[in-house]
Amino acid sequence: MKFFIDTANLSEIEEAAALGILDGVTTNPSLMAKEGITGEKNILNHYKKICELVDGDVSAEVIATDFDGIIKEGETLAELHEQIVVKVPMIKNGLKAIHYFSQNGIRTNCTLVFSASQALLAAKAGATYVSPFVGRLDDISADGLQLIEDIREIYGNYEFMTEILAASVRHPMHIHQCALIGADVVTTPLAVISALLNHPLTDIGLEKFLNDYKKGNL
Ligand code: G3P
Repeated sequence: MKFFIDTANLSEIEEAAALGILDGVTTNPSLMAKEGITGEKNILNHYKKICELVDGDVSAEVIATDFDGIIKEGETLAELHEQIVVKVPMIKNGLKAIHYFSQNGIRTNCTLVFSASQALLAAKAGATYVSPFVGRLDDISADGLQLIEDIREIYGNYEFMTEILAASVRHPMHIHQCALIGADVVTTPLAVISALLNHPLTDIGLEKFLNDYKKGNL
């Protein structure tokens, strides 16, 4: 399973990359705004900086919602760096654009996916990745992980090559369950990746080992 970090914060990306478990980065317009990155030139430069920090795919989202606009923005983003994957929303023009990009050698991440039928369309159109939002479904008392399970089964039935990128992943159990289901990728903030490391018995055990070592070496 690939681990992506869901942030536009350069130090967090560096920190995750240093752990040796990072396979890529996902961003979205909210995450870019959170870092204060505004204006087309600054945004494009920021994507280039992200690509230099990580050895893997970097999702960069289009803002346009009309077909021509999505194509123009997507081509500009894809030309920036070979690691860029163009992130396109699951809307009618987005679906058409994903198909266009897949025919023209541009990799895509279909975002804002909340149902198995949307995921089926994304795969039919040739998306490289599909991003179902687990946490946002849980937020409205739906079952985000059930969606991942359904998509896994549907993609398996027809051998779709589109990778399931579980997004809006908020806590370690989301990652644990995604791994059991067989999601190809999870994307999550650094805090959640770090939380995977923690176990109180590890801390207690280490403290005891170190104390026993000290006693034995007095
Ligand atoms: O990758 C999508 C993600 O950024 C959304 O996460 O926590 O805002 O639902 P969240």
